[in-house]
Amino acid sequence: MGDNIVLIGFMGSGKTSIGIKLSYRLRRTVLDVDKQIERKENLTISEIFKMKGEKYFRKLETQCLEELVHTCRGQIISAGGGTPLKAENRELLRQLGKVIYLKITPETCYERVKDDKGRPLLLVEDPLATIRGMLQERNPVYEEAADVILETEGKEFEEILDIIVHETGME
Ligand code: S3P
Repeated sequence: MGDNIVLIGFMGSGKTSIGIKLSYRLRRTVLDVDKQIERKENLTISEIFKMKGEKYFRKLETQCLEELVHTCRGQIISAGGGTPLKAENRELLRQLGKVIYLKITPETCYERVKDDKGRPLLLVEDPLATIRGMLQERNPVYEEAADVILETEGKEFEEILDIIVHETGME
């Protein structure tokens, strides 16, 4: 197993922001799978979905993980919300390092993402209902993919970071 910390979880679960805070605390680089893809394609995630489709995006996601497995050591990796859905990706995530699932409720997710237009899967008529359905479906997958299930509800950032540092033994 690699020695990276891998953050997974639903959209709005804090993968990006916790990844950045963790990178300051541990003085390690943070890599964001979505941002890697955007940089490579020179397009935003929304543009990739619109112009090339979700299937194409999912291929890029797997390719990105394959590259990271070869290049990434001792870093923090923020996955996309859908990254753990493919069994192949779950295996790559495991190879990358310790997988932490940042768990949130549908209501918290909705509050965080409701004004954000950058998440194509949530640009629907009733985002809260969609979030509830998707979370229900994905939660068991995230749990299966994770080494640590971290309930983030009601916790301050510092507390979340403390748990990750403790669980991974990284200082
Ligand atoms: C997705 C989550 C997004 C992004 C894409 C698809 C998903 O990442 O990869 O819009 O399927 O949950 P974030 O979780 O960083 O928003």
